Amino acid sequence: MSGHRPQTCPDAAAQRVAAGFAAAADGYDATGTEFFRAMGEHLVAQAGIGPGAVVLDIGCGKGAVTLPAARAAGPGGQVTGIDLAVPMLDHARRAAEQAGLPMITFGPGDAADPPFPGGSFDVVLAGNLVQFLTCPMTEVPRWGSLLTVGGTLAFSWNLAEDPHWVPVLAAFDTAMPPGMTGFAAMLRRRPFASVEQVQGLLATSAYQAITTRVHTLALTYSSPQQWWAAAQSQGPWAACWRHIPPGRLDAAQRDAFALLDDLRGPDGSIPRTMLFACTSGRKDTP
Ligand SMILES: C[S@@+](CC[C@H](N)C(=O)[O-])C[C@H]1O[C@@H](n2cnc3c(N)ncnc32)[C@H](O)[C@@H]1O
Repeated sequence: MSGHRPQTCPDAAAQRVAAGFAAAADGYDATGTEFFRAMGEHLVAQAGIGPGAVVLDIGCGKGAVTLPAARAAGPGGQVTGIDLAVPMLDHARRAAEQAGLPMITFGPGDAADPPFPGGSFDVVLAGNLVQFLTCPMTEVPRWGSLLTVGGTLAFSWNLAEDPHWVPVLAAFDTAMPPGMTGFAAMLRRRPFASVEQVQGLLATSAYQAITTRVHTLALTYSSPQQWWAAAQSQGPWAACWRHIPPGRLDAAQRDAFALLDDLRGPDGSIPRTMLFACTSGRKDTP
């Protein structure tokens, strides 16, 4: 479902990204190098969710943010997760059921126009979503209207890639079809090149106490193949690399694997250290 998108922000691009995540949903966060859960915990901690809070998680995926948010809100809370990819929602519902968190409701919804009346939520969250939006500069500021006065917006985003991995990602990005954005360029679009610019998304919407906390994420892959399986279940593939024509994809994979072989440590494993950020602010005026 997608509602009233800003005119300059076409629906087709968002649907294309969501279709990629829908196709990746089974493997998403299930390849042995999961990090979304750890990031979800950081985001929920920063948002300061209290007992009984009414919370919205936009782009909820399999619930990496929604589930810890529900634990923080407790039995008196109400937590809603929305996503454009229906298979993600199916996984998230099962996870909430298994975790015994009946205060969560999941449903379809577009980040460009979340289907709720203004002032509905004490906390609005978005875990690793903002860099996949078609128009983050217009979509994120719109979320302020969903908050009560005194409510908190908090979202996480990828701040910096491991410098050793930049050529690995470039092997695929340079194989993208003409006119399509590669993954690195997508992650560093305006405003994501700096913390200051990202915080500017909140400065336009009457937020106070704007804060960004940076988290180091150290991953270890057992082999290039393990990384490739993970990448194919996550953003790089869902948003970008699945559009690379098969012949060029094979060549890019060969180049990337050769680069990754050079990054192997003495035990054969491949380290990767990335920086993630959580940015939050409190809405102080209606
Ligand atoms: C990288 S995943 C993050 C999922 C989850 N928040 C987490 O931290 O694991 C991005 C999610 O955003 C969803 N998504 C992408 N564009 C969206 C949009 N315009 N509206 C709602 N969801 C969207 C995707 O389907 C995907 O589930």
